[in-house]
Amino acid sequence: MIFCFLCIMKKILVTGGSGYIGSHTIVDLVKNGFDVISVDNNSRSSPDVLKAVEQITGTRIKNYNVDLCIFDDTHAIFQENNDIEGIIHFAAYKAVGESVENPLLYFENNLTSLVNILKCVAEFKVPHFVFSSSCTVYGNPDKIPVTEHTPQKPAESPYGSTKQMGEDIVRQTMNSLKNQQSILLRYFNPVGAHPSGLIGEIPIGRPANLIPAITQTAIGKLPQMQVWGNDYDTRDGSCVRDYIHVSDIAHAHTLALNFLLEEKNESNCDVFNLGSGNGFTVLEVINTFEKVSGQKLNYAIGPRRAGDVIAIYANNDKAVKLLNWKLEFGLEDMMRTAWEWEKKLKNI
Ligand code: WQD
Repeated sequence: MIFCFLCIMKKILVTGGSGYIGSHTIVDLVKNGFDVISVDNNSRSSPDVLKAVEQITGTRIKNYNVDLCIFDDTHAIFQENNDIEGIIHFAAYKAVGESVENPLLYFENNLTSLVNILKCVAEFKVPHFVFSSSCTVYGNPDKIPVTEHTPQKPAESPYGSTKQMGEDIVRQTMNSLKNQQSILLRYFNPVGAHPSGLIGEIPIGRPANLIPAITQTAIGKLPQMQVWGNDYDTRDGSCVRDYIHVSDIAHAHTLALNFLLEEKNESNCDVFNLGSGNGFTVLEVINTFEKVSGQKLNYAIGPRRAGDVIAIYANNDKAVKLLNWKLEFGLEDMMRTAWEWEKKLKNI
């Protein structure tokens, strides 16, 4: 995109800017000419991430180290920045297993921070709001691929409940506000790392998610990984998911903002599936990793994992057509960038 320097750079507030998807999205927003500020209290991320974002973009990103559950501190950001054109709200806890062990931590953190941000959206009349949602709102779908109209099933975890409730809170709040628009983005399984190798996923503790479990096993941080069940009714018995490169997810946020800024939206709370549109089994992902990395992976077949959805992948036609979203990365790219990032982490 040829950036028009005469255009006034629109200011975007990214909450959770030091997080995995937040940091990749800031890179894409800056590349596309937006003026970005971040709010992140680094409770689940490192402040070094925004230094890496600066290395990639050549732009220093101002971060407010604020806990969004504290309204007065959140409000102060908007008093200091009364020209915010849009907000992308990533900040939330997202570990499914932790949410089962400590549901109230998730309800308090994820919903209080959302309500505080929306109170500021209303008071300061911020025109555009993008909410980070998840395919987890579909639960175990009866029919796949899922479209944005696929009925939601009961959430499989308190984390999933906070996304279902979060969507309702955004939808009903935006319906009460005039001339303010929002978009809900339902991510499938974001994986991989920025091609520069400077930012990527930094799991806290033993990784619950498949790709970091694979790369940490391959690099020797984990002795062996478990495939949680191979007796499901799928191609090879292991679960099916829609893996999507984090940079493709990030670019979709820029496209969603432009969609709102150009007033192309028909409803004031539109929903988009952000998935690749392809379903791969756990064993197919492992095979692809072995092919790309040239490493044989040490894994064993373990028992099924409670709460696992058997198979889900997206119908992404709406995002492809309406947001003009062109995906750049395939499964091999996801494995390659994830592996490069894991090797980089080892050397830090
Ligand atoms: C994928 C598959 C596991 C680890 C995630 C996020 C959730 C949401 C959706 C954003 C499953 C299997 C995993 C391992 C394995 N994202 N697996 N061995 O469960 O789809 O949920 O994406 O909102 O926040 O958690 O992803 O990577 O945990 O699991 O066999 O060591 O890999 O059983 O079938 P999941 P996952």
